[in-house]
Amino acid sequence: MNTTASSTPDTPHIPVLLAEVLAALQPRDGGIYVDGTFGAGGYTTALLEAAHCQVWAIDRDPDALARGAALAARFPDRLHLVAGRFGDMSELLATHGVRNVDGIALDVGVSSMQIDDRARGFSFLRDGPLDMRMERAGRSAADVVNTLPEKDLAEIILTFGEEKHARRVAKAIVAARSERPFSRTLHLADVIRAVVRRAQDGIDPATRTFQALRIYVNDELGELDRGLRSAEFLLRSGGRLAVVSFHSLEDRIVKTFMRTRSAEAARPSRHMPASAIKASAPTFNLITKRPALPGDDEINRNPRSRSARMRVAERTAATALAAVAGGHA
Ligand SMILES: C[S@@+](CC[C@H](N)C(=O)[O-])C[C@H]1O[C@@H](n2cnc3c(N)ncnc32)[C@H](O)[C@@H]1O
Repeated sequence: MNTTASSTPDTPHIPVLLAEVLAALQPRDGGIYVDGTFGAGGYTTALLEAAHCQVWAIDRDPDALARGAALAARFPDRLHLVAGRFGDMSELLATHGVRNVDGIALDVGVSSMQIDDRARGFSFLRDGPLDMRMERAGRSAADVVNTLPEKDLAEIILTFGEEKHARRVAKAIVAARSERPFSRTLHLADVIRAVVRRAQDGIDPATRTFQALRIYVNDELGELDRGLRSAEFLLRSGGRLAVVSFHSLEDRIVKTFMRTRSAEAARPSRHMPASAIKASAPTFNLITKRPALPGDDEINRNPRSRSARMRVAERTAATALAAVAGGHA
């Protein structure tokens, strides 16, 4: 473990399932694509190199966009960097006059640069401020562990971390913060490790609680849900949506959305009148019945790809269900 004071990321982000995402989106000359999670620009670069297309690249992390400046200079008329959340992508692009696109890629979660930069506070292996905010704004992980009631902390750790010792961890957090409020990542990691034993698989006991806090602080599952609906609005008929996710909570949301939207007589909302239900045809066709996974080669080259899975669906010509249901489907 690197314990120097540097906060410079030491691992460049290696794009995950890149060939699969490219094959799914089939970029063509003149096409318009959205990379909703620009990160280190791996997908964006590949799209721009594959065809003479336009790419609208979104990231909520100001550091990621700042690092994209060189790429934007290389493709001055074709790459458009946009600060914001992919959950708002249809609104974000509308402000630039873009209302339909040919393909959308989402590679959800955090980048290697974010994890490796101790100053961002995502890592339980490196000491840093207990932050975890991708946007560098809003409530930090320290705010959450220092202020939430024990019951709420336990709920978050159980739901978003799938930590079976959630109640024990929440109790330890509340006891520790009464002695000294949390401000550093390693303080929190040590408190967790004192009450949860390392499992036989060797996974650090702090893993699940850190994941839970990150998801909660950044409302990652809510963002994914809004992003999928936004994609339904933006994609033109025949346009493809490719989503790469990294854990079962995310994959379940993607799978359910794609299955529901591609089902015959898809029902966007239980409050919807029967007359409207009849009118709602499937808005997507499934391209991947099962998720695409990285092969052994990719996992050897990039162990962080280990848990990745990609699902792809193609937009039909049907009206977006959220539109049919008045924006609340
Ligand atoms: C896994 S990385 C993407 C890596 C990218 N595919 C590449 O090849 O370099 C995820 C990126 O998405 C950003 N991100 C996560 N959730 C987001 C959201 N809801 N809206 C916009 N950006 C988001 C993160 O800040 C991070 O930079």
